[in-house]
Amino acid sequence: MWWTPLLLLLMAAPPELSEHELRLARSMSPVPAAPNNPTNAHADDPAAAVLGRALFFDPGLSSTGDISCSTCHQPDKAFTDERSLAQGVGIGNRNAPTVRGAAHHRWLFWDGRADTLWQQAMFPIENPLEMDGARGDVVQHLIDTPWLSSRYVSIFGPLPNLDPLIAGARPGTDAWDALSASQQQAINDAFVNVCKSLEAYERQLSPGTSDFDRWVASFDQAEATSVMSDAAIRGFQLFVGQAGCRQCHFGPLVSDLEFHDLGLPAPNGGPSNDPGRGAGYSQLQASPFRADGPWSDAPQSSQARRAANARIGPEHWGAFRTPSLRNVASTGPYMHDGRFETIGDVLAFYNTLETQARRHHHAEDVLQPLDFSPEQLADLEAFLSALSGDPPPSHLMHPPPMPQGPKKLDSNPKSPELEATEHIPITE
Ligand code: HEC
Ligand code: HEC
Repeated sequence: MWWTPLLLLLMAAPPELSEHELRLARSMSPVPAAPNNPTNAHADDPAAAVLGRALFFDPGLSSTGDISCSTCHQPDKAFTDERSLAQGVGIGNRNAPTVRGAAHHRWLFWDGRADTLWQQAMFPIENPLEMDGARGDVVQHLIDTPWLSSRYVSIFGPLPNLDPLIAGARPGTDAWDALSASQQQAINDAFVNVCKSLEAYERQLSPGTSDFDRWVASFDQAEATSVMSDAAIRGFQLFVGQAGCRQCHFGPLVSDLEFHDLGLPAPNGGPSNDPGRGAGYSQLQASPFRADGPWSDAPQSSQARRAANARIGPEHWGAFRTPSLRNVASTGPYMHDGRFETIGDVLAFYNTLETQARRHHHAEDVLQPLDFSPEQLADLEAFLSALSGDPPPSHLMHPPPMPQGPKKLDSNPKSPELEATEHIPITE
């Protein structure tokens, strides 16, 4: 037919964006630097970040000597573990989120029970199902490891004198109760410093520049870059438009950083019995390690006052924090309990809401079934995949070289990068 070429031309034309859509795209890119965290005086101290990087890969912080942060937050798996539920010393009841971009969150964990990255890190180390460590042993491990202690001392000053220390001292144990108040205080101080170093490292793990960012950056260039497929561009239009995802997933992190109950049913059907934000809120309010507590370096700062200003309502019962969708293509399985294997499964849920549990009458009611065609769902997924960022600089994917350090570091022996890190000075 004479019109066939014309039709092909029309079909090949890239989707046109409205002024409104262009504005929304710009509001989601680029990812800025992580907000300052004055509650940790060493948050952006490069020496603390090197110490934190060593500790992140160090199984010596666990009771069994074989679990490190990197067991569940694996650099080559987008700093998560590809498991539905994380497995350390035991198996917990939550999915491990990525650490990339975590420094942008106001509330950490799916239920927001921590308000800084340094407070967050205290939990997995002592969680009996994760690393099952004890703060007393962590401090002892530093004292016993010259590479770690020399760096610790040059950043934070002297380590406490713990002689004699009973193993396994963490709050709630007899070993902890046997310590004097001043010993407990000294251990808490050093343990918090360890966690502040971990934060300094984690702050360097930004989500990375994605095709979506390159596309948005090209708006200001004479020639728009074709890094985003037409499907991904249509997916973006659906995401910020008809699909309504933008109600909760907006801004550079593609998250409102707050909590919602999507009505995901319990595994055995019916409403979920995980209280989510309901319990996380109370736990944070009761913690002495809050950003406005005695271990904070800036208890009066606006960041520190968030916990005191936070409000909770009945709608927060069973609510979970909106995850960032940066790098979402590599962070599956999905949702707080890892119930969905693929992005397709997540979209199938939003598309029909068929599996949504009947919820308590306080739950918010934002979600409506999308009722999209398979093509529209494929477009949405293409957009989500375009949010995958370039990997972090290679030295951040490995522990720093530690000649006299603990022998069992969780490095990736197959990686050629490891050799390359050998010569990186420790002060980088
Ligand atoms: C056994 C697996 C496991 C280990 C080991 C582990 N984590 Fe996690 N991590 C998780 C899980 C699961 C969650 C989510 C838990 C929740 O929300 O209740 C999480 C959450 C986090 C978060 C919050 C991310 C967010 O978006 O809120 C950060 C940051 C983090 N971990 C860092 C660390 C650090 C640092 C260590 C080592 C000190 C560590 N993790 C050890 C499994 C693990
Ligand atoms: C009412 C707020 C809200 C809306 C609207 C919303 N989401 Fe979500 N989204 C969430 C929350 C909260 C979670 C985590 C829920 C949980 O784990 O219980 C989530 C989880 C996800 C996940 C899983 C990410 C991960 O790391 O586990 C994806 C993918 C996702 N949403 C995509 C979308 C898309 C696409 C849309 C639009 C069709 C959308 N969301 C609409 C709040 C929302």
